[in-house]
Amino acid sequence: MSTAPDHAARYQSGFGNEFATEALPGALPAWQNSPQRVPYGLYAEQLSGTAFTAPRSHNRRSWLYRIRPAAMHAPFARIDNRGIVSSFDTPAAPPDQLRWDPLPLPQAPTDFIDGWQSMAGNGTPQSQCGNAIHLYACNRDMHERYFYNADGELLIVPQQGRLLIATEMGRIALAPMEIAVIPRGVRFQVTLPDGAARGYICENYGALLRLPDLGVIGANGLANPRDFLTPHAAYEDREGDFALVAKFNGKLWSAPIGHSPLDVVAWHGNYAPYKYDLRRFSPIGSIGVDHPDPSIFLVLQAPSDTAGVDTLDFVVFPPRWLVAEHTFRPPWFHRNVASEFMGLIHGAYDAKQDGFVPGGSSLHNCMTGHGPDAATFDKASAADTSVPHKVDNTMAFMFETRLALCPTAYALATPLRQAHYSACWSGIEKHFNPEQP
Ligand SMILES: [Fe+2]
Repeated sequence: MSTAPDHAARYQSGFGNEFATEALPGALPAWQNSPQRVPYGLYAEQLSGTAFTAPRSHNRRSWLYRIRPAAMHAPFARIDNRGIVSSFDTPAAPPDQLRWDPLPLPQAPTDFIDGWQSMAGNGTPQSQCGNAIHLYACNRDMHERYFYNADGELLIVPQQGRLLIATEMGRIALAPMEIAVIPRGVRFQVTLPDGAARGYICENYGALLRLPDLGVIGANGLANPRDFLTPHAAYEDREGDFALVAKFNGKLWSAPIGHSPLDVVAWHGNYAPYKYDLRRFSPIGSIGVDHPDPSIFLVLQAPSDTAGVDTLDFVVFPPRWLVAEHTFRPPWFHRNVASEFMGLIHGAYDAKQDGFVPGGSSLHNCMTGHGPDAATFDKASAADTSVPHKVDNTMAFMFETRLALCPTAYALATPLRQAHYSACWSGIEKHFNPEQP
């Protein structure tokens, strides 16, 4: 067994760029040679993340130069799905506001894949439409196992504990306050430098996540492309009795494999994993009166085939100044065509006084009324809006989806569900007086 010395996570900057990277000098075929005749005895293999004929601006593919082709493994056999659900039709799913306490860290040895717990979703992998939302909690490295997801790209949002994600295309060191996207099909292995980890995953069955257009905001602001980091090539030349686990069509499968599939020595292309530090998000907001829609906090979007309507919006609520005058500054009362699954990475969320804690989750489905709780409404209504206020010590996010999010049977039955969540609005007083304009 030998391992390349290039083990540290190193990155190249940009979003959807045509990257080119090699872990050994000269491993990328020179332009004048055939890309199929590769130095160092490597095999050439294309990994396509979009249809061959997708428009050039959205076409994603990479060429991998690897020690063995990805085809080399024994047949797959079904393994237990544990907490993973990919079909969302829970008959008793209500339109209630729902909220959950954080998923506890496991007691038994649990690696990143065993630690998934599906909470809600819509669409199916088969239809290539919709999303599945999972929590994860784990305490064990994926020593002998590697994983890929054939069903969709994975948007990983750590809340506690770092993840070292070794992928075919390089290593990502991921900490809370950062996110990573692992493209569909890319094989990877997760180890836990802090011993235990917890967070959120959105599995995107639809079009690949991309940066939104900025319209009149202009060329800068929100998530800037230069802050997205894609790893340089790093490989393992490692043999042993390993397992290649696949999530395919909603079910987990495992195949014996005699070598590490993370054996890509060089690659080029625009289909690759990336990470982004949410603290680099440049928020835009009102500097006068009134309250913009939360779409100003959009980090990434997965468009649908209807213009302006996304399969998935990933939205973040970072620290920011509130300066608008003569207004109600927290998020308002509202109902949407969208369905909103929220998580809290750090601190407190400015629309809730308590009950929504780091690692917790909430779900407000299509046309379900929600907004600030009674305590927040009273406090913000009495606030002096002639002075700026810094919302600090916070990092909340939202997976917002086009289709209603159906909670899983687990999500409805778990004791983590806060049975009396809707009571946070019960203290809102009637102020209406037709005699008092
Ligand atoms: Fe909302």
